[in-house]
Amino acid sequence: MSSKTLVMSEELRAYLLSVSAREPDILRRLREETANLPQSGMQISVEQGQFMSLLVSLLGAKTTLEVGVFTGYSSLVTALAMPPDGRIIACDVSEEWTGIARRYWQEAGVADKIDLRLGPAAETLQALAAEGYQNSFDFAFIDADKGNYDRYYESALTLLRPGGLIAIDNTLWSGRVADPTVQDADTLALRALNEKLHGDERVTLSLLPIGDGLTLAMKRA
Ligand SMILES: C[S@@+](CC[C@H](N)C(=O)[O-])C[C@H]1O[C@@H](n2cnc3c(N)ncnc32)[C@H](O)[C@@H]1O
Repeated sequence: MSSKTLVMSEELRAYLLSVSAREPDILRRLREETANLPQSGMQISVEQGQFMSLLVSLLGAKTTLEVGVFTGYSSLVTALAMPPDGRIIACDVSEEWTGIARRYWQEAGVADKIDLRLGPAAETLQALAAEGYQNSFDFAFIDADKGNYDRYYESALTLLRPGGLIAIDNTLWSGRVADPTVQDADTLALRALNEKLHGDERVTLSLLPIGDGLTLAMKRA
């Protein structure tokens, strides 16, 4: 029993992975290729990917949204956890990074599950609402530019079915959200969203200290 959450040392994380990580070979190879990029820190962790895979399975998700693809790790995790008729609408602005993602989606045999929409995600999500996709998606993962997180959250809430789940990445922001001396725009945006979510009666809420902080918000009926 414990009334507190552990502070995760490198040794303890290594142990955690040694007894629980089940990263498929294709995800491992994508991680290794991404590690060569200077931006590799943007990729979600092995344990977060595995947890998200479990969530997608638990939800029985068939339609999902992804905001922020990068080289495709989280979208591949999601696609692999969905049934053959599952569909992801994936948003990003980078041809270059999503070019890597596309290669791995092809190799994994899930490319036809993923509809990549290149362009500002706020516009893509707005267009989906205009196309009549309200109340339809089972799961959304938000992991792109922090300044727009609140817009992504509001759009995702509209697009999700009741009982659908929004996962929002980086909500602990390396601890900066808890340091009042940090006042940059991204930190302020995350802090404001965290505070808004705390009182948002439209969702059932949990903020998990996994990775850089992962907030789960389930849309209430
Ligand atoms: C943190 S990375 C995503 C990591 C990814 N989920 C993974 O598991 O590897 C953020 C991504 O958001 C994309 N992005 C930034 N601004 C965006 C915008 N306005 N609309 C859509 N995507 C954006 C970037 O190109 C980048 O690929």
